[in-house]
Amino acid sequence: MKHFLAISDYERDDLYSFLDLAHRLKAGEEKGKPLAGKTLGMIFQKSSTRTRVSFEVGVFQLGGHALFLSSRDLQLGRGEPIRDTARVMSRYVDGIMIRTFDHNDAVELAEYGTIPVINGLTDLLHPCQVMADVMTIQEEFGRELEGKKVVWIGDGNNMANSWLNAAYRFGLDLRIATPEGYEPDPEIIERAKGVTNILLTNDPVEAAKGADVVTTDVWASMGQEEEAQKRMQAFEKFQVDSQVMGAADSRAIFLHCLPAHVGEEVSEDVFEGGQSRVWDEAENRLHVQKAIMAKLMGDDHA
Ligand code: CP
Ligand code: NVA
Repeated sequence: MKHFLAISDYERDDLYSFLDLAHRLKAGEEKGKPLAGKTLGMIFQKSSTRTRVSFEVGVFQLGGHALFLSSRDLQLGRGEPIRDTARVMSRYVDGIMIRTFDHNDAVELAEYGTIPVINGLTDLLHPCQVMADVMTIQEEFGRELEGKKVVWIGDGNNMANSWLNAAYRFGLDLRIATPEGYEPDPEIIERAKGVTNILLTNDPVEAAKGADVVTTDVWASMGQEEEAQKRMQAFEKFQVDSQVMGAADSRAIFLHCLPAHVGEEVSEDVFEGGQSRVWDEAENRLHVQKAIMAKLMGDDHA
């Protein structure tokens, strides 16, 4: 049984087959109901708009049923161990999506459960989002992702780590511009560096030169609210604005996983401008997650 905890857990061909199915689903070419009679439990220990709605709608469209389980209401929130939650839920549902803080909690859920576990964001990774992002890149530039120049500007957070994993598996050329002290996970960097071009810098305009894709995220992620003020100062020079977009290729697109703080990590003209693909990117969460669920939980394991 397979989980979807990290992009790096899958070989390139498997990742392409998720994406190929996602494009077919989006085009209306797949009409099956592979989740008929099945239930996805969705555990949320953090807020969500896109993840919650896209998973719930996606399960419904595939013929199944989704349960929204906030940790505020679950016994998990009162200290029931994650491993016990895993063993109990495995007796009721056919798959679990979890959004949590500690990545090890998602790993433990997968270890103790007997059903597929999908990572809907941890402090370390956000793999479903970056799969939607690479799908959006394919819509713009074609199926082949190897050698595409992606620049990440801002915090070396869960999104940056998942971009590194995507670079590792797809052979992206990834440049990462962060303030000093806000770099992504060192082990994830080293693994990606072993197979593809990864550049780390503190200069966003230099990093953006000739890029096909410019992407960023909030400066303070969920759980970092108390650091927000300090981070505003540290990231001041890391806004994606027209100067940064001007350094990228003229056909470059702008991506943001959302929610965005317009005026902080991205200027309004870039966010609302002609190069922005953020709404397609948000839509693609639905298609790519349907593909992942169909393959992991579906009757015919499409
Ligand atoms: N991008 C994303 O995961 O959004 P939500 O936090 O709204 O789910
Ligand atoms: N890095 C952000 C992404 C939100 C979708 C966070 O973890 O809050």
